[in-house]
Amino acid sequence: MGHTMRSSLRRIGCGGGGSAVGSRHFRGRFLLAALVTSAAVAVFVAFGRPFGDTTWSGDHYIIPSSRSTYDSHFSADFPTSPPTREFVSISNSSVSTANVVLPPVLAPSPSRNGVLDDAEMDDGSPDLKETPLWKEVANTTDANVPPFLVEPHSSPLENSAATNVHSDGPELRMPPLQVQVTGPLTSTDQQLVYAKGEISRAPIVFDDPELYAPLFLNVSVFKRSYELMENILKVYIYQDGSKPIFHRPQLKGIYASEGWFMKLMEENKSFIVKDPNKAHLFYLPYSAHRLEQALYVPNSHNIQPLLIFLRNYVNMISVKYPFWNRTRGADHFLVACHDWGPYTTKWHHELLANTIKALCNADVSEGIFIRGKDVSLPETSIRNPRRPLRNIGGKPASQRTILAFYAGQMHGRVRPILLQYWKGRNDDMKIYGLLPKGVARKMSYAEHMKSSKFCICPMGYEVNSPRIVEAIYYECVPVIIADNFVLPFEEVLDWSAFSVIVAEKDIVNLKDILLKIPQRQYATMQMNVKKLQKHFLWHSKPVKYDIFYMILHSIWFNRLNHIQTEQ
Ligand SMILES: *[C@@H]1O[C@H](CO)[C@@H](O)[C@H](O)[C@H]1NC(C)=O
Ligand SMILES: *[C@@H]1O[C@H](CO)[C@@H](O)[C@H](O)[C@H]1NC(C)=O
Ligand SMILES: *[C@@H]1O[C@H](CO)[C@@H](O)[C@H](O)[C@H]1NC(C)=O
Ligand SMILES: *[C@@H]1O[C@H](CO)[C@@H](O)[C@H](O)[C@H]1NC(C)=O
Ligand SMILES: *[C@@H]1O[C@H](CO)[C@@H](O)[C@H](O)[C@H]1NC(C)=O
Repeated sequence: MGHTMRSSLRRIGCGGGGSAVGSRHFRGRFLLAALVTSAAVAVFVAFGRPFGDTTWSGDHYIIPSSRSTYDSHFSADFPTSPPTREFVSISNSSVSTANVVLPPVLAPSPSRNGVLDDAEMDDGSPDLKETPLWKEVANTTDANVPPFLVEPHSSPLENSAATNVHSDGPELRMPPLQVQVTGPLTSTDQQLVYAKGEISRAPIVFDDPELYAPLFLNVSVFKRSYELMENILKVYIYQDGSKPIFHRPQLKGIYASEGWFMKLMEENKSFIVKDPNKAHLFYLPYSAHRLEQALYVPNSHNIQPLLIFLRNYVNMISVKYPFWNRTRGADHFLVACHDWGPYTTKWHHELLANTIKALCNADVSEGIFIRGKDVSLPETSIRNPRRPLRNIGGKPASQRTILAFYAGQMHGRVRPILLQYWKGRNDDMKIYGLLPKGVARKMSYAEHMKSSKFCICPMGYEVNSPRIVEAIYYECVPVIIADNFVLPFEEVLDWSAFSVIVAEKDIVNLKDILLKIPQRQYATMQMNVKKLQKHFLWHSKPVKYDIFYMILHSIWFNRLNHIQTEQ
């Protein structure tokens, strides 16, 4: 398929000394889950340095309880029965969906098909909708997938939506799969154990010209972990899988993050290795958006063909190569921005439970995205792939005259409530549905964001929205309203330093919440947003600490959190 692997030119930067460090229970992530889901208080806002810091202690990554204003019911000691997500043992290895009667899987949310979900239609740019590719991949039933992909399955593909079975088919009722790795640590795993130990002893960073400490939970940990990633990490990219679903990045539209990541990952000569035995991570190089375009029959409301396709792909690589079975997929990762990214993994149990998933749709309430293992992928809306940074920037804090701005479509549960309370209510709060033409003529969508103190980012059909990164590009403090959403790069970033999180139930108090933030503190947050920007920018050739490396870093970091340190 014309895709060639490049060999690594760089020497692995560390000895493979496998100094095991302590127990391997990972604790702490659920605290942030609690922050986001907590309905108790609407907003957590911390300025400058957070109240506490995140530390590695031994190999425990600890987020202290004092980070926000309203988590005081968590003591500094973490609950002793944390949701352990480590390698335990396989309770039932005969898990298979082959003989389960599979209901049609209804699409969990309507297909946005790459169209901007917001009001940014007023700037005269062409619609981002692309011609569906599904005709190219003519047949998607099991009978027609290439022979090596075929697996028995007993349900017809017709859309018998009448049964109205929701997407939670039988597969999610299976016990969560857990992994027991037998045999000695591989030398690559030993390197990860080494890295983990090094990070726990990270030298304290006082003043790094490239890293603005207030943005990070613990800048010392981030810097050291990033450095080790650069020196150690090797990624193997499977060549299997044909275009367009595999190996054909799409660089435009609201799902562009998955495409940009794929392109930059496949191009990077220093991270990828030809020899999979040298790899720490294995990339499944497909696009969830192309999967939808190729296999979803428009208006069928049935995503079953997508599920079958991915299941078969993973079965194929796990038979053809020894790598998947070594960790039951735990050192494999995928990067999917399409809303259906999480749902399409559900018919392969190990893919669902073990594989590191970088997902825009990072919703912890659905039982697919797992905090601390999976990675929240920022959704970035790219209009012009040649100039991804077009039009970034915005007014200084003092010249932002609009208190809060939102314009966009009425997707999902939150936006209608937002409009119900705030549309047309108040001059300070510019809350619209689609930006009215008359308003847009005077001030475009982007100009609104550049001139507002706060940019409201309510969830759409799913928890994620490209607005968060848009706000960062326009130097507007994002106000995120999406319960259960895991914020991008939460492993390392302190979102309270540059954003406001409002619980869905507190939309009614939105204006009060924003007005209570003193001007001086607002100015600090806004400056932090500007400092944050570089971590969310795409470059055709990646730049240190940019969004590409941030994504890869979070994948690396979460893999380290799960690496076995004892054998
Ligand atoms: C950051 O993490 C390092 C390494 O675990 C730790 O020594 C340090 O105290 C932490 N920094 C802060 C400010 O908590
Ligand atoms: C494993 O799963 C199969 C099929 O679901 C079931 O029949 C069997 O009893 C299970 N075994 C154990 C040990 O749970
Ligand atoms: C798709 O598969 C069906 C059933 O196997 C077959 O009749 C049809 O010709 C196929 N279509 C294409 C375009 O290959
Ligand atoms: C690949 O990554 C390395 C390490 O960060 C970087 O120095 C190099 O410029 C990247 N190469 C390409 C082609 O992106
Ligand atoms: C991996 O395990 C599966 C069953 O769990 C098996 O069918 C497959 O052959 C194994 N792959 C290899 C390469 O041994």
